[in-house]
Amino acid sequence: MPCAQTDADLTAMNTFGLPARAAHLLRVHSVEEAHEARAFLATRPRGAPSLILGGGSNLVLRGEALDTVLKVEISGRHKLGETETSILVEAGAGENWHGFVRWTLDQGWPGLENLSLIPGTVGAAPVQNIGAYGLEVAERIESLDALDLTSGELERFSAADCRFAYRDSVFKRQPGRWLITTVRFCLPRRWQPLTRYGELAQELAGRGFSDSAPPSPLHVSDAVIALRRRKLPDPAELGSAGSFFKNPVIEAGRCAALLAAHPALPHHPQPDGREKLSAGWLIEQCGWKGRRLGSTGCYIQHALILVNHGGATGADILRLAANIQDDVFRRFGVELEPEPVFV
Ligand code: EPU
Repeated sequence: MPCAQTDADLTAMNTFGLPARAAHLLRVHSVEEAHEARAFLATRPRGAPSLILGGGSNLVLRGEALDTVLKVEISGRHKLGETETSILVEAGAGENWHGFVRWTLDQGWPGLENLSLIPGTVGAAPVQNIGAYGLEVAERIESLDALDLTSGELERFSAADCRFAYRDSVFKRQPGRWLITTVRFCLPRRWQPLTRYGELAQELAGRGFSDSAPPSPLHVSDAVIALRRRKLPDPAELGSAGSFFKNPVIEAGRCAALLAAHPALPHHPQPDGREKLSAGWLIEQCGWKGRRLGSTGCYIQHALILVNHGGATGADILRLAANIQDDVFRRFGVELEPEPVFV
């Protein structure tokens, strides 16, 4: 049986630092314990609110008491094999994401360096298809195993089965159904630095790297870490869930109309012909960067990061988010969609 605790305080288990309690907290250390946790869930009253928790870094706890929380702490990481083109690596869902990335680099297996220092766990990475500096984790996932909490079957998902999209997957669309236990990564043996993201290219150039003196995977990781430390708050010091809104994707015609009124609007063409806007820019234009609302606010270095200055509740964060959404909609006619999961 998984290690269980009653009336557990979840404040330190979400990077926003929002208060909430769970009547039962089950720490799941293996696939077997995941099955046992499912059996426990089946004994709970119908409709009792439950949550599958990883690192709690993409989560807004509204504050209502939860009945059962399954905290996934399945560890382990090893190489499964290799082909001429790739190295196959497997990791338990509870492994710390950044620790796993640095471990692969230490083994001499590149491919995840652009995703360095993202908070959270290996098992949570595919749920919202984490992405940064020109790479989404979907591009490196070979397959994963997830326990269907409704049927009790342990199912294997290929990358295609996961239906990955921008900060989205089948797991995010069916909250509470899938408990991811193990993730397998396909890492390229013929590696080239991925520097299509302008800010990363600049950082590497500033460190003396160029086409004739290319960086190693560790150099790229170090550059990403430096960029993130400069722009994003350390969750240990200031609570946040990273980017609070997705970057909105709009039709090209609407983008052209917006550009006529706001020539500085940053926009990025998408493969489907639409344009991705920078939510951080839209929010900053509305005067929110660095602004506070009670115990919450927008981070001083990056308007897309909502922060808890201390003592905020889920309701406070939602109030701030609604204010920002209203202002951006009134000024630009663009709807901002939150990125974290609301519980
Ligand atoms: N910008 C502003 N003001 C701000 C912030 C941003 O004007 O306060 C504008 C600037 O023009 C800047 C542009 O927005 O060039 C893009 O900003 P940034 O490079 O910081 O990236 P982002 O689009 O805000 C996305 C991801 C981040 C990821 C970075 C780097 C989303 C929602 N966010 O942010 O992911 O680290 O790119 O690749 O896609 C996360 O998902 O939690 C996250 C941090």
